[in-house]
Amino acid sequence: MCDRFRVKDFRGQACVVTGASEGIGRALSLALARQGARLVLAARNEARLASLAAECAALGAEALAVPTDVGDEAQCGALVEAALDRFGTLDLCVANAGATMWSRLDELTDPGVLERLMRVNYLGAAWLAWHALPALKRSRGRIIGVSSLAGLTGVPTRTGYAASKHAMFGFFDSLRIELAGSGVSVTMVAPDFVLSEIHRRAAGPDGRPLGESPMHESRIMTAEACADIILRAAARRDRLALTSARGRLVRWAGLLAPGLLDRLAARAIRERR
Ligand SMILES: NC(=O)c1ccc[n+]([C@@H]2O[C@H](COP(=O)([O-])OP(=O)(O)OC[C@H]3O[C@@H](n4cnc5c(N)ncnc54)[C@H](OP(=O)(O)O)[C@@H]3O)[C@@H](O)[C@H]2O)c1
Repeated sequence: MCDRFRVKDFRGQACVVTGASEGIGRALSLALARQGARLVLAARNEARLASLAAECAALGAEALAVPTDVGDEAQCGALVEAALDRFGTLDLCVANAGATMWSRLDELTDPGVLERLMRVNYLGAAWLAWHALPALKRSRGRIIGVSSLAGLTGVPTRTGYAASKHAMFGFFDSLRIELAGSGVSVTMVAPDFVLSEIHRRAAGPDGRPLGESPMHESRIMTAEACADIILRAAARRDRLALTSARGRLVRWAGLLAPGLLDRLAARAIRERR
């Protein structure tokens, strides 16, 4: 890792991170804490958030835990308000909270999954951005939208998830244009598979969590490595962060060889890595 990007880009910056209790959000929060950021940690699990806040404090960072369900617009507003009450400013907003599914559409017996994924993955991110926008404009801050490679291409067993992650791209790519000249940057992230809780918690055909991860976990990137890539991209105000060679291939294959891209996506799910 190049030291140039280990500088304290986010020292003193007031940062909201959703989905902070697990996985990528947790790794992002700890990395920001190490840089001396001021953190507002959001997710639904209060106990996990409280212990993360204590870990961040032990690293020397100020951290406030705000239990939040991002699937509720009012709670997204309350989250931004809590950040402004505590720190008076907001420099970085990370829309990371998310959930996934693992079921072919023709095997799905609970179609409510489609609505729940859209609400958390897309609306949760959109509502957060809407509430945070005035403060981000004042600070000339940054937005990070954690989408997925499934936001750039179709993926079997992920219809509802891919739709919600495509929606994130549509929303934030549009917002970036609206924000031209405002000083606020929008960095989208399209991670490849990452080691986290999301696979175990994925909604199966009946809408209930799978309970165990179907992934080849030793073959996929850690949340810490992913967080590193995300923060370097946001520090540079990049528009897009990809986390793998496969991610870069997806960008080009989508234009040049869409049939090949379909086969790659099917293989990734078949091989579970
Ligand atoms: N892991 C991967 O392979 C992968 C690949 C591409 C993209 N991503 C994206 O990366 C982001 C983070 O996922 P992860 O892999 O770190 O998953 P994870 O370990 O399951 O963490 C998901 C986080 O989101 C929170 N969350 C879920 N529903 C929420 C809600 N309604 N309100 C507030 N918080 C909620 C969870 O906390 P609570 O349950 O406590 O609320 C948890 O902190 C997601 O947007 C995911 O789609 C992940």
